[in-house]
Amino acid sequence: MKKAILAIYLCVAFMLGFSVCANAASFDDDGMLRLVNRDEKITKKYEPGDLVKPDVPTNKKSQQESIYMREEAARALEKMFQAAKDEQGYTLLAVSGYRTYGLQQVMFNNKVEAVGSKEKAWRKVAPAGASEHQLGLAMDIVCDSFRLLNSGFGETAEGQWLYANCHRFGFIVRYLAEWDDITGYAAEPWHFRYLGVQHASAVQWLHVPYETYAHQAMLLPEYVLVKGNAYLLYGIMDNALNGDGCLFEEICDAAGTTEEEQNATIEEMTAYFLPEGVTLQDALDGKVH
Ligand code: DAL
Ligand code: ZN
Repeated sequence: MKKAILAIYLCVAFMLGFSVCANAASFDDDGMLRLVNRDEKITKKYEPGDLVKPDVPTNKKSQQESIYMREEAARALEKMFQAAKDEQGYTLLAVSGYRTYGLQQVMFNNKVEAVGSKEKAWRKVAPAGASEHQLGLAMDIVCDSFRLLNSGFGETAEGQWLYANCHRFGFIVRYLAEWDDITGYAAEPWHFRYLGVQHASAVQWLHVPYETYAHQAMLLPEYVLVKGNAYLLYGIMDNALNGDGCLFEEICDAAGTTEEEQNATIEEMTAYFLPEGVTLQDALDGKVH
């Protein structure tokens, strides 16, 4: 019953162009949560304004490719590479980061030529406008002892460490074999997408494809997306995806009030999800482990 009420509420909200639950910034082209795929493309002229070159070792495949990323993602990548080195002694290598629309087009055409059809190429490389590499929020990564972009990377100790730890730095492994019907791509254990620690942790814990997460998260108010911590996001999304959605509704209802009231709501709801021994401040600081 609650589910039905929530569905009606959301439908009516959308039909009226009601913006309480709609989200502008985080899912905008420049937002950290922008979903890009073949259905939700980015324009030809989109180029992030804050691209920088992360200070990490590389293994670029061609002159044309770059390891540039948006600044926030680049700094997070540096931390992740350093942690791999400090905690495990692993040397990670950045292969491919920001790609222009034009470069993605060239890469897609090359793939079509190599595999013989567009349909086959589609499973491996995004067509121009459909790659999150154009956002400057994705990086292909290999390691010293395994330099190929193939499924073998997922079997390496480095690949497994990344899979288990990348959310600590704000990244997710975007394409898993079990999600290929939703993402449209074969497994890519080397492709990491930056979302920020809170959302990456929530996605990791929920173990859902980013398409699933993003389509639900788009319905949340911006203040929850930006200020909410990983526990809160996990709780809300788990409830929305697997439960009766009532928390979701409460959160939406709380939007539009003063910042103080919004923060109080977040605090109250967060407390419910915090494991014993984790303070709200820890959670807000991203210390989610
Ligand atoms: N290989 C991924 C899907 C891309 O081209 O963006
Ligand atoms: Zn990639």
